[in-house]
Amino acid sequence: MSQPARLHDFITAFTRLIDTGPEEERIFSEGGALLADLVAHDDWLPAAYAGTEPERYQQYLLYCDPTERFCVVSFAWGPGQSTPIHDHTVWGMVGVLRGGEVCEEFAGTPLRPSCSHPLAAGAVDLVSPRVGDVHRVSNAFSDRDSISIHVYGGDIGKVQRHVFDPVTGAASSFVSGYANAGAPALVRIIDA
Ligand SMILES: [Fe+2]
Repeated sequence: MSQPARLHDFITAFTRLIDTGPEEERIFSEGGALLADLVAHDDWLPAAYAGTEPERYQQYLLYCDPTERFCVVSFAWGPGQSTPIHDHTVWGMVGVLRGGEVCEEFAGTPLRPSCSHPLAAGAVDLVSPRVGDVHRVSNAFSDRDSISIHVYGGDIGKVQRHVFDPVTGAASSFVSGYANAGAPALVRIIDA
């Protein structure tokens, strides 16, 4: 199978799932299986959506549903890079395509660490206000890049959400945007 076809087929199958109006639980079970299959093969993501930068991790939009029911994003982590502690406010799934990550979860008021777990290549992790929405994700490696593919229940680059101070737990609003500001990239990927 050619590289672009894997992403195209994933988006087609995911759109068909979302068209049925599933509950979050079914999005996680059936959509999570689709994402697990997508990240089981590391031969489809164009290099332009896997590029790291020394300053911080990069977040590239691969596809956004025309009515913003979901989006697909690649995260490119340089050695040792991590996110701030943040929430999402919508459901999300994190599938590790390359390398590995560490996910630290936070809960409660005031915010406290609740657990931490490694995510190896091929693993899929879940977030949402229902199952736990606050975490910090890091590249598990200090000497190599890692790449993950995320699916969210909205256009995550436009969603107003929060980062949290690691000491006080105080929340600040933020909108993440994308490293590739502009139109969704699916058409360019298919034509590549
Ligand atoms: Fe996250």
